[in-house]
Amino acid sequence: MPTVDNPTEKTLADLGVESAEKVALLFADIRSKFDSQISHPLDQANWEILKQSWTGRKSGVLTLIGDNWLKPASAELKRTVGQELNRLKAHIEAQLETRRAAIDSGAQSAAAAKDRIDLSLPGVIRPIGSHHLIRTVIQEIEDIFVSIGFSIVEGPEIETPYYNFEALNIPEHHPVRDDMDTFYLDLPKGAPGPLLLRTHTSPVQIHTMEKRQPPVRVIVPGKVYRRDNPDATHSFMFHQIEGLAVDTDITFCDFTGTIEYFVKQFFGESVKTRFRPSYFPFTEPSVEFDVSCIFCGGSGTAASGGACGKCKGAGWIELFGAGMVDRAVYGFVNYDASKVSGFAFGMGMDRLAMLKYGIDDLQVFFQSDVRFLRQFP
Ligand code: PHE
Repeated sequence: MPTVDNPTEKTLADLGVESAEKVALLFADIRSKFDSQISHPLDQANWEILKQSWTGRKSGVLTLIGDNWLKPASAELKRTVGQELNRLKAHIEAQLETRRAAIDSGAQSAAAAKDRIDLSLPGVIRPIGSHHLIRTVIQEIEDIFVSIGFSIVEGPEIETPYYNFEALNIPEHHPVRDDMDTFYLDLPKGAPGPLLLRTHTSPVQIHTMEKRQPPVRVIVPGKVYRRDNPDATHSFMFHQIEGLAVDTDITFCDFTGTIEYFVKQFFGESVKTRFRPSYFPFTEPSVEFDVSCIFCGGSGTAASGGACGKCKGAGWIELFGAGMVDRAVYGFVNYDASKVSGFAFGMGMDRLAMLKYGIDDLQVFFQSDVRFLRQFP
């Protein structure tokens, strides 16, 4: 901090100043000290310090002059000292103010320079991304079903047991719940519950039928969750696409015809389908759809001559579950089971993508490895 070599701590008498000329010289000296200090480059903080040391109320130079020179001055000199002090004060304040304005405008123009947009600079070129393979497959499946009159709906990933189980004809102690037991949410005390992550997209069948009257023809793509340990064919989260068609005259033939159309559109004309009896509480009859093996053409024999590794020599690959909507389900949505009929299916989209694009590990979908992702631009 700049300090003044301190004549201001003494009185005029102590300094031997006895005439108006000497007073003027003394003030000129002080003034030139101030001028030299303020001529240095100053930022906001240094300016504050300088101001304090000159105009500070307690021990600023002006205060000291007032206390030590003016107050004890002799009657002859008092007037001169007073006038000199006022002039010095006015000079110091004016200089400080000018300097402050300069510092402010300097800071502003520096900020403005920083914000200036230079339109002549080249733009930022960002790499173009691509759809994830799962997204591409969802789109392919949607396109096929939309082309034959289905519309797309979505539903919540967090469900109540009523929608995930009960309304699908899976009562509380039904053994199929064991396979589907899932992640229940930790809810705060007193919150209405329980809630769980849906184990399948089938709850959206219920949501849809609650809202719409037949004819209903929807597909429902989305994420589902199960307590499975991750391996090449399992994940705690995967993607399903549900299908539901309900009208007054839908038969099992409409059902198999629709599935066959979809499978041929998706995998190719040469692929064959078959179904086997299966069981789901919300469909009756229930079936499991198979496709002829896409890898060995259904022969069960690999190109090398041995058994096909993909279908294990069977010539068929299990694809998805489906069936005619169980009458009991209509009861939950206030449809008249004696008037309506329909079918439903639930396909694992990750599995369909793996089969179609020859991917042998489900985990690669979720690892975000660009070496994999870039293979499907
Ligand atoms: N929701 C069943 C599952 O996840 C699949 C399914 C859907 C079966 C619709 C029949 C009808 O396994």
